[in-house]
Amino acid sequence: MFLTFAHEEWKKHLRPGNRAIDATCGNGHDTLILSTLNLSHLYVFDIQEKALEETKKRLGVRENISYHLGCHSIFLGVETSVNLIVYNLGYLPGGNKSLTTQAETTLKSLENGLNLLSSGGLISMTLYPGHSEGAREKEAILSHVAHFSPKNFQVSHHQVLNRSKAPSLLLIRKIY
Ligand SMILES: C[S@@+](CC[C@H](N)C(=O)[O-])C[C@H]1O[C@@H](n2cnc3c(N)ncnc32)[C@H](O)[C@@H]1O
Repeated sequence: MFLTFAHEEWKKHLRPGNRAIDATCGNGHDTLILSTLNLSHLYVFDIQEKALEETKKRLGVRENISYHLGCHSIFLGVETSVNLIVYNLGYLPGGNKSLTTQAETTLKSLENGLNLLSSGGLISMTLYPGHSEGAREKEAILSHVAHFSPKNFQVSHHQVLNRSKAPSLLLIRKIY
């Protein structure tokens, strides 16, 4: 449910010719959705070669998509501003659960991502508190973004109230 909600937000937000980053491509399901949204460039990141291979298999090689093996905390290879950054946190479904996103690197990535984001740009982050690192990560991120200046950012968190461990969606819009 949250992924469909996130996809709708991306579709509403993006305009033809915009640029986006998929910061955690995994098996490429989200990348595939992004690839249909008339982007001029889509930067795709994952720390696992296996994830990039799965995503390439799903999408094929395309001129406007670049694949980056490495941690999203530095977004190496992204040299222009982008209009959307998408995170789907956690571990690769069906893969090694220890290779999960971590609070510290996700916070670093958020900081760098906000600098890369154009004015009016959006960060979409799906959080998974159903496993221990995911719960720690969610808490660290939400307590960090709660202090963002409302003059500069609009921060909203969308969560199911009657399922405590359900995924939730954090949206950060850069105003300035
Ligand atoms: C839940 S999966 C993403 C699912 C994916 N969006 C999809 O549609 O299939 C999370 C992914 O984040 C990747 N990951 C973990 N730590 C990372 C990091 N520091 N930088 C980039 N990717 C990371 C994992 O390897 C995993 O593939």
